[in-house]
Amino acid sequence: MFTMKGEWAKDAPPQLMILSGAGLSAESGIRTFRDAGGLWEGHDIDTVCNFDNWRENLTLVHGFYQARREAAAKAEPNPAHQAVARWQTRWPTHLLTQNVDDLLERAGCADVCHLHGRLQDMRCFACDHDWEHGLGPWTVGEDACPNCGNTDAVKPGVVFFGEMAPEYRTLQRAMDSLRPRDVLLVIGTSGQVLPVARMGLEAPGPTILNNLEPADAIPDRCFDHCVYRPAGEAVTKVEALLERYLD
Ligand code: APR
Repeated sequence: MFTMKGEWAKDAPPQLMILSGAGLSAESGIRTFRDAGGLWEGHDIDTVCNFDNWRENLTLVHGFYQARREAAAKAEPNPAHQAVARWQTRWPTHLLTQNVDDLLERAGCADVCHLHGRLQDMRCFACDHDWEHGLGPWTVGEDACPNCGNTDAVKPGVVFFGEMAPEYRTLQRAMDSLRPRDVLLVIGTSGQVLPVARMGLEAPGPTILNNLEPADAIPDRCFDHCVYRPAGEAVTKVEALLERYLD
């Protein structure tokens, strides 16, 4: 199992950086955000995922994330998650995801960097305690911080809009350490939040994008290879490209 922390050794063998988004988990039945029928169609981002007002909307916030925890608990890793776990054993890999589900871990991946946090985590803003709550229920007004007992300052451990995202430094470090022989693979993201198009243009080595369809924010010219197929079906083609560049 190759997993990378920190800087990559300069003379190391060719390495792989994988950034994934909601599209990676779509075939596991987890809704994406901006596709037709996506999560942001049925919910007001400013009510359920806004760092400036989440405490005024505690019931709606926890209700929204409870539904996402339940969906994640029912989901199973799909062939794309399993392929990522295989690739991590074949090549030194930086594995970063915008996803908050645990399907990569359940597919056998290690050292997954969750850029936007994890559904199973909780954070108490009364005492700054972070803990793994798991995917079970959370009842506002009843469930409390295990450290201080507070019941109205607990927030899901997912990065909200307007909130700092500490793991973005890991993303920048991984990008900075890419060399001409290293591959950047992006799977299942519209590029609306992270500068995915810029990443494709700035990566010094081969770049591969796998999405269901072209994304407005990611022009084809930004990546050497654009594979517009469901991630599970794109595995064979993506794997062949990885072997061409990394073996
Ligand atoms: N296989 C591959 N790609 C897919 C599939 C699939 N089966 N289904 C959808 N996609 C692609 C779509 O083409 C789209 O480009 O996944 C992308 C999903 O885009 P979004 O719904 O915007 O999800 P994402 O890019 O991960 O959102 C980024 O926005 O709301 C925030 O914090 C949230 O992490 C999330 C961030």
